[in-house]
Amino acid sequence: TDAQLISYLEFGIHLAQLAGPVISEGFHKRFSPERSALLVKQGNTVDLVTEWDQKVEKMVRSEIAGKMKGHAFIGEETVAGGEECDLTDLPTWIVDPIDGTANFVHGFPFVAISIGLTINQEPVVGVIYNPILNQLFTGIKGHGAYLSKIDEDPWKQGRRLPLSYPHAPPPLTSLSMALVSSEYGSYRQTDVIDPKVRSMRNLSARDPSELSPRRATAVGHAHGIRALGTAALSMMAVAQGQLDVYWEVGPWEWDVCAAIVIVREAGGVVVDACARETTDSQLLMGRRYLAVRACCNEEGDTSPEAVKAAQEKIIQ
Ligand code: IPD
Repeated sequence: TDAQLISYLEFGIHLAQLAGPVISEGFHKRFSPERSALLVKQGNTVDLVTEWDQKVEKMVRSEIAGKMKGHAFIGEETVAGGEECDLTDLPTWIVDPIDGTANFVHGFPFVAISIGLTINQEPVVGVIYNPILNQLFTGIKGHGAYLSKIDEDPWKQGRRLPLSYPHAPPPLTSLSMALVSSEYGSYRQTDVIDPKVRSMRNLSARDPSELSPRRATAVGHAHGIRALGTAALSMMAVAQGQLDVYWEVGPWEWDVCAAIVIVREAGGVVVDACARETTDSQLLMGRRYLAVRACCNEEGDTSPEAVKAAQEKIIQ
């Protein structure tokens, strides 16, 4: 029921309130003499895990186990530790304790805990909290998405997403108007990186055929490409209307579960980045994501042409 979903969202905010100070403490201690102990494991030289990722996930997981009987849990560090975490129809908390771990290690202040909840394998509640910038993003399926501070009531004191400054962004009719975000991710084998580089080239290079003004507005190259270092907060920039498009192949369900709810509730779309038809469960577990911001055209929807154009530019 709606009341139940609201109580789950409040519980998600409670988890973010517990985790926030621990993440902040780690972030601000990173240059202390113990910093050498910060990295506890490297899956490869760019896939970083710190003792704070593990500490936060343990804390959140035990809070869920204690207070949400019968619910399941999928967490980045739990899976990395070798536990089987299949997605089932049970209410399932899908958590990345620190999304943007490389940012965390380097002191780039885009780090967040991402807490999603699925029911019947469908993302229904999302809570994303950046404790460094004190930004709390929340969403419930069918009830809108909000940006607030951690100690505020999102509905009473928060701002509904997408934000307007003071007007909503214009309709996104082509990529030639777009600020696009993507990532190289943590798999750096050339066969993974090369197609990403080609997609970035397609998004940014000027094609001679685009010199004709008519074609330039139809498919022109993007205004710019950004890489924020966190899937969850990149998608929150899309939800706010600050970035037009986010796409990435490689993130996991804990990076995007909460963000899928929030982007959609902010009027945007999240689909398979390779244009496959998917159920929500297949999308969530599929590791290929394309998010496009809301655009306020007459119908109030994101233009399907913009989504299609993004997919065509990106797919290799
Ligand atoms: C990573 C970040 C990064 C993205 C990777 C994710 P982590 O999550 O979201 O931006 O490129 O695909 O795995 O390791 O910082 O939790």
